[in-house]
Amino acid sequence: MSAQPTPHEPGAGPMVEAHEVTRAFQSGGSTVTAVDNVSLTVARGEFLAVVGRSGSGKTTLLNLIAGLDQPDAGTILVDGAEVSRFNDAQMTEFRRHQVGFVFQSFGLLPLLSAAENVDLALRIAGAGIRERGERTRELLALVGLTERADHRPYELSGGEQQRVAVARALANRPRLIIADEPTGELDSTTGAQIFALLHEVARAGVTIVTATHDPFVMEHVDRVLEMSDGRILPEGDGVIVGQHRSRREPSSRPPRPEVPPARRFSR
Ligand SMILES: Nc1ncnc2c1ncn2[C@@H]1O[C@H](COP(=O)(O)OP(=O)(O)OP(=O)(O)O)[C@@H](O)[C@H]1O
Ligand SMILES: [Mg+2]
Repeated sequence: MSAQPTPHEPGAGPMVEAHEVTRAFQSGGSTVTAVDNVSLTVARGEFLAVVGRSGSGKTTLLNLIAGLDQPDAGTILVDGAEVSRFNDAQMTEFRRHQVGFVFQSFGLLPLLSAAENVDLALRIAGAGIRERGERTRELLALVGLTERADHRPYELSGGEQQRVAVARALANRPRLIIADEPTGELDSTTGAQIFALLHEVARAGVTIVTATHDPFVMEHVDRVLEMSDGRILPEGDGVIVGQHRSRREPSSRPPRPEVPPARRFSR
């Protein structure tokens, strides 16, 4: 067994440190070890993709990092704090102020407009009414949806809904964004735009951990880790990552799509 990670001051050290983390589920009399002794480090501002076959443990790992689930063994530090030992109050505070979530199915409230969906996130984070108005406009401009502020989700395309979801995830100025299959319900062009937008967010210093099946993620992220049967394969060994890597040859590399319209991003 190797040494435990040393807690560090917020703002210093890696954003995420998982150390020998295991999470198993009992179902139907058998045990599934969804995450099996995983250790990983994610640097500040890094955009990391976790890939792997269905059932390999990606969502389970992301949920553990996000504090939505607790490991059976091991430790997880996010920005120096041990998420795996948080009490309920610390966990609520963590989710409210430090992490943003982007989900496959967008997760917008259907009766609220794009602006109201973002505003609600700001309200939950405790922002005052004046700040909320300004910040909502700023966030919708960032994701290129100023013109759609008053549209409800059913009046938006899938890509536009996911852009609202990214704006909402950024509302509380999180240091970390967890995005589980953010392009799973989008066509490849729209999906690439979402990854390009997340790439821009990461460049502004927000750490992003995404799980995806999307082969084009390779064009946008800093690093790809592949999971198989709950474990992280040594970097470069993965079958899927290996396949994707061949797409990076200059001749076959598609141009990076523009985020329409690209705005300067500020946290
Ligand atoms: N709550 C649960 N109870 C029982 N088994 C679970 C539970 N959650 C996940 N599992 C099992 O753990 C394994 C990993 O699941 P997980 O959802 O993390 O995979 P995944 O890599 O995200 O897959 P996908 O690509 O399909 O989203 C699977 O075998 C799954 O059936
Ligand atoms: Mg999953």
